[in-house]
Amino acid sequence: MSLLIGAIGELVTNDPDLGVLTDAAVVVEGDRIAWVGPMRDAPEADERLDAGGAAVIPGFVDSHAHLVFAGDRAGEFAARMNGEPYTGGGIRTTVAATRAADDDTLLAAASRLVAEARRQGTTTIEIKSGYGLSVADEARTLRIARHLTDETTFLGAHVVPAEYADDPDGYVDLVSGPMLTAAAPYARWIDVFCDRGAFDGDQARAVLTAGAKAGLGLRVHANQLTAGPGVRLAVELGAASADHCTHLSDADVDALAGSGTVATLLPGAEFSTRSPYPDARRLLDAGVTVALATDCNPGSSYTSSMPFCLALAVREMRMTPAEALWAATAGGARALRRDDVGVLRPGARADLAVLDAPSYLHLAYRPGVPLISTVLHNGVPQ
Ligand code: NIG
Ligand code: FE
Repeated sequence: MSLLIGAIGELVTNDPDLGVLTDAAVVVEGDRIAWVGPMRDAPEADERLDAGGAAVIPGFVDSHAHLVFAGDRAGEFAARMNGEPYTGGGIRTTVAATRAADDDTLLAAASRLVAEARRQGTTTIEIKSGYGLSVADEARTLRIARHLTDETTFLGAHVVPAEYADDPDGYVDLVSGPMLTAAAPYARWIDVFCDRGAFDGDQARAVLTAGAKAGLGLRVHANQLTAGPGVRLAVELGAASADHCTHLSDADVDALAGSGTVATLLPGAEFSTRSPYPDARRLLDAGVTVALATDCNPGSSYTSSMPFCLALAVREMRMTPAEALWAATAGGARALRRDDVGVLRPGARADLAVLDAPSYLHLAYRPGVPLISTVLHNGVPQ
């Protein structure tokens, strides 16, 4: 079955760069893109969808989200807006609620968030564990995440759980040993929160090294709260992504610039913790590959909206609308080491969003407005 999406006023392909075509068409065959080009040259297809002059973009690739959890922390958010700082200590509150919830409850809640993201144009989403923090609960939350995405990440090293408060190194041994063994069958990636109040450089190195040995790709929560060793460790170990990158030294920026590690910026976290935004301009000007993601989680960033993050990046982080859209699509794909998503070219997955707007510029220009009118995921209208 083939589908022609025609009368596209503005088509962003990300091939090459932003790859913008006007008066364009896309043909989808099954779950793949079969053809991209000017409307007047479009081949025949079994079915037609008329975009009516609207813009079409690749589906968003949200490369950083924590969706398997129970409860919420609205009270903690309110306290922050009343002057309390964010420390990451609230993670333990969500761990307690998640451990107490059954599988069906957790899967239903995570599915709801994936559907919410999908309605806002997200077609690929990474999901981390990290609210179980026991061997059984980390394996269980990853198994649940696997129902929703192939891009699953083991984040046993999120914080030290209360029962290991007196023995953090014992917890690192657990994460790097039996917990990793139980989690690895359900995970593609391993991640560590390397920051003040979480894990130091040596602990993070131990966890990441064990994960690499078990065949997992590496990602790091780095330099969110302080300019610690996370970014340099991520680069040294060849991680696919260093995420947050809010507090960076010149050495961190240089390390990222000369590496294959993507800097994934998560402006929803700075918004919701009322913190200074990362300086995207400094990274881009240094030649670093930048991705944007939501960090959707109940503590520091309870948004599933890539358009919201894109608008923040443009308004608050000195990214151009073109850079922000690329970072939210092709950049996310790079952060997940994928070449079949975040791009509209023959052979790529048929993942795209039709906007209720004539140009992608409207995504940042019209913040908070639901501009995603149709989403195709694996060629199927959602
Ligand atoms: O990416 N920084 C660590 N982890 C999450 C926050 C999780 C939470 O507060 O529940 C983050 O911001
Ligand atoms: Fe996160």
